[in-house]
Amino acid sequence: MLLSSVPQRMLMRRSRSLSPCRVLQTTGADSSCSTGRHGLREVVDANRNPLVSTSRVSRKGILSEEASSTNVTPHVQYHHLATRWLTNLQGRRNSWAALASRGRENNYWDGAGGRESRSSRAASAGVLSAAALAFCLKKDSDSKGGSLLQAARTSSSQEVLRLLAEGADVNHRHKLGWTPLMVAAMNRQHNVVKVLLEKGADPNLGDDFSNVYEVSREKSIHSLEVLVSREDEFSSRLSSRANFRGCSPLHYAVLADDLTTVNMLLEAGADPLQSNSQGHKPAQYAKDGPLQDLLKEWEGKFVEARQKREAQERRRFPLERRLKEHIIGQEGAINTVAAAIRRKENGWYDEEHPLVFLFLGSSGIGKTELAKQVARYMHKDIKKGFIRVDMSEFQEKHEVAKLIGSPPGYVGHDEGGQLTKRLKECPNAVVLFDEVDKAHPDVLTVMLQLFDEGRLTDGKGKTIECKDAVFIMTSNVASEDIAQHALHLRKEAQEQSRRRLAEKLEEVQKSSDVTISKQFKEEVIRPILKSHFRRDEFLGRINEIVYFLPFCHAELIQLVSKELTFWAKKAKQRHNITLLWDRPVLDLLAGGYNLHYGARSIKHEVERCVVNQLAAAYEQELLPKGCTLRLCVDTPLEEEGGAGPTLKLEVVGDDSSTRPLHIRPPLNPDPMGFAH
Ligand SMILES: Nc1ncnc2c1ncn2[C@@H]1O[C@H](COP(=O)(O)OP(=O)(O)OP(=O)(O)O)[C@@H](O)[C@H]1O
Ligand SMILES: [Mg+2]
Repeated sequence: MLLSSVPQRMLMRRSRSLSPCRVLQTTGADSSCSTGRHGLREVVDANRNPLVSTSRVSRKGILSEEASSTNVTPHVQYHHLATRWLTNLQGRRNSWAALASRGRENNYWDGAGGRESRSSRAASAGVLSAAALAFCLKKDSDSKGGSLLQAARTSSSQEVLRLLAEGADVNHRHKLGWTPLMVAAMNRQHNVVKVLLEKGADPNLGDDFSNVYEVSREKSIHSLEVLVSREDEFSSRLSSRANFRGCSPLHYAVLADDLTTVNMLLEAGADPLQSNSQGHKPAQYAKDGPLQDLLKEWEGKFVEARQKREAQERRRFPLERRLKEHIIGQEGAINTVAAAIRRKENGWYDEEHPLVFLFLGSSGIGKTELAKQVARYMHKDIKKGFIRVDMSEFQEKHEVAKLIGSPPGYVGHDEGGQLTKRLKECPNAVVLFDEVDKAHPDVLTVMLQLFDEGRLTDGKGKTIECKDAVFIMTSNVASEDIAQHALHLRKEAQEQSRRRLAEKLEEVQKSSDVTISKQFKEEVIRPILKSHFRRDEFLGRINEIVYFLPFCHAELIQLVSKELTFWAKKAKQRHNITLLWDRPVLDLLAGGYNLHYGARSIKHEVERCVVNQLAAAYEQELLPKGCTLRLCVDTPLEEEGGAGPTLKLEVVGDDSSTRPLHIRPPLNPDPMGFAH
């Protein structure tokens, strides 16, 4: 947007956001500059002298900011501030004078002196700025990095090269947050930009400087000092109120309307898609014309390169493998879901309809976990990317309103619906409808529209387009039949393997690799689903029905192992105790599996048999600091009349000798909910 087209009132308004039209500063005294034909240049000219350049708009902003925070009128506050500053800065003036006497920074002193004769108010302001400036400059000149920052703004590339050769860090940050490359980009120092890039300056670093007031608060530096530092050591053309956090050198080159620097930065790998903290890409600050065209062209190149990179990454580390890192077993389910997502990612899908899955299977076997992992894969760790709706909360007809929001005039109208509100925030989210069979049929009607057209109308009559969303429903309907069928298939497969082994045939099938037959799906599952949901069109909109099967023994061993590893990590982190275990321990704990509770029964078995013992031993102070514990199976001899194998804990000594732990009761509490 052209600066000249922005109303003056907008530029002067107090705002903390770096809206593309608010970043450049105008001076109160010379406001016509910004609206002139050569807007930017005129502003630069007016701002050439650092003392004059501190615009009235900015200063007024600071004064009014502090006035509002202390409820003092700006007028009173001004005098209050002026007196305080005059006394506080006496010391700084002295140190500055010492600097001047050593022959450094003479030009600033002269400038301030010249101004002093104009009027007494201007003189105080001048002295304040000069002293603050000298203070900042002195601090910065203490380090080579500080000198580099200065050189990037004003000096030749030779000076920059000299400082870099002397060991200055090319990405050195000013104490307020910016880097030499940002300074050079904003100040159109083409040669310096070139040298810095050649010497490895990172074109994608973001500025840590937000705005004068925020930085002043964060760093406990007076806002006037921050303002002077920003204007004199970075640029005086930027608003003191806009937020610059996250702005890259490219953002600044665009703000400076400098095609040459923009080109250099892009060639050096600057990312035109990188947004600042306000979510604005550089192109959003560019004027129409060659600069805008150049940025658009590079954005296209970057999108293409990113897609290629992502596709390469997907090939290198397929989704199936990623999911298997978190989910044990359920190979069929993982493959079905991964294949559907691959179709979507590579553009082989019907963009008019969202992807809809129905996950079937008994409790605790990974239905919710798989949905979570899919969301994590598709949206990284963005919370908004995963919407979970517990459908057991929508069993009554009137509860539809909770999902999509109440119509105008009804209670809770302003709150919006649980689903619509969150889908609006992230229309391509992964939406999990847990226990969908429990929902009222009217809720299913709402979902039908959602699945069929990929859009949803909320209580206010607004339509949300969500064709890119992934919908996953879970249900325990027919879970018993699926589990029994899978167990039956597994038994058959085991028999077959045994026979093949006996006959020394090569292809021995893994007993866990069983697939639900099409016939079983059509003849058993579909009628159950039909009688439950009572609507063919609802089932027709489901892209994939995914079956989750009970765990086989090998998978149970993996689950137990995962659980013990989890507790071993906790023991190390919290108590510096090393926990080891033998293979028979895994077999014994796997015996605690209950078909109806799935992996949850394993979790509880480990807690009951292992964690309880650890906690009791810890409470009884039986565990030496930093000790190593070993879990092993204790099988009592038959003549001892023992009640079967149990788990016991041993302390492992430095010489690998072991000593059993005698933990006093209460121990081995009565078997709880998951025992059988
Ligand atoms: N296949 C699996 N691999 C690893 N962990 C699992 C697996 N299945 C379940 N779990 C773990 O067990 C717990 C319960 O799993 P999850 O919530 O996915 O069950 P569910 O199938 O959705 O059950 P429900 O029908 O009761 O909601 C989770 O902590 C999960 O991490
Ligand atoms: Mg679940």
